Amino acid sequence: MSDHDGTGIESDYDRIGGGPAVSRVVERFYELVLADADLAPFFVGVDMSSLKRHQALLISQVLGGPAEFTGRELRVAHKDLPITAEHFGAVVAHLVAALTEAGVPPEVIARVGAVLGATEKDIVTEPAG
Ligand code: HEM
Repeated sequence: MSDHDGTGIESDYDRIGGGPAVSRVVERFYELVLADADLAPFFVGVDMSSLKRHQALLISQVLGGPAEFTGRELRVAHKDLPITAEHFGAVVAHLVAALTEAGVPPEVIARVGAVLGATEKDIVTEPAG
């Protein structure tokens, strides 16, 4: 078993294969998001390499990895974007698909899903429609 912080407790981050696995998941996640015609327009003009770095840090932290998430608060990052609950659900579904493809165990995906679910109120800015 590997454990990145020497506690003897293997985190979900270690369990799925650490940093390289997280990078692969982020790469695949963005492929899926940008191939989605409802979501792609949000990312026009966004610096994707810095966005991917932030996402990798965030996902690492959600999984109990070593990264400190240093991005702006999620509410601030999304406040000027007209994001509906439907957009939010589509993004989460793409992330779940990328994690599933990478062989991440279902119970780990469920924990990631629960953490992301708690961010919905900070990210969804538009009433349903
Ligand atoms: C599912 C939960 C989500 C998480 C955890 C998340 C996370 C993030 C993070 C960490 C950043 C970077 C913040 C920074 O650089 O300071 C970001 C930026 C961004 N997010 Fe999200 N996001 C989520 C959902 C969404 C959704 C649903 C959309 C649109 C459909 C979206 C569109 C964007 C865009 C366009 C940016 C770049 C904003 C800019 O650079 O001005 N995000 N997000």
